[in-house]
Amino acid sequence: MIFEVLKVIWLLLPAYTPNNFAVILGGIKPMDFGKNFIDGKRIFGDGKTFSGFFGGILGGILVANVQRLIENAIEFRYFSALGYLDFIILVIALSCGAMFGDLFGSFIKRRLNFERGRSFPVVDQLTFLLFSLAFASLTNAFWFLFTSLDILIGVLITPVLHVLVNFLAFKLKLKEVPW
Ligand code: CTP
Ligand code: MG
Repeated sequence: MIFEVLKVIWLLLPAYTPNNFAVILGGIKPMDFGKNFIDGKRIFGDGKTFSGFFGGILGGILVANVQRLIENAIEFRYFSALGYLDFIILVIALSCGAMFGDLFGSFIKRRLNFERGRSFPVVDQLTFLLFSLAFASLTNAFWFLFTSLDILIGVLITPVLHVLVNFLAFKLKLKEVPW
């Protein structure tokens, strides 16, 4: 079971890491161009920028390629069991899904009057994953690598991992708030 959990974490790194790249590369050009939605509130808010969005997607794809190299070096076979085209389509789906889900989460938060940066449990931890899985489910490679149990494990462990990693980053003073 522990092995299955580690497998799922490994396979989902291209969905987990885009947001970290977004934090580092974000800040240039808000994706809503500073505009409001019909309810008079910001569409996405200042926390969603083009540099973060595209930097995040490219970051996730970069991480997956490094994972594939590592797998090849240690004869571990998940991403490296796929042909390169199937692999790249899968990781583009995982990584784009994560950033679109994150954007959608902010859209929902603004509609519900959550100011930028305020934590919204479940939405903050799961929308990105659900979008990522939904995008990836359209690829053949996804169903080759993930069993139904793996999908369930991913949905269950992601909020827990999210809380643990953020708390650790807060303790290490990498983040100002523990979420
Ligand atoms: N970020 C970005 N562009 C994105 C996603 C994230 O620039 N598309 C950067 C922003 O600097 C953002 C940080 O990453 O502040 C953290 O992302 P997130 O927690 O998703 O945004 P919040 O600032 O918390 O805003 P929101 O309330 O909309 O979630
Ligand atoms: Mg946030």
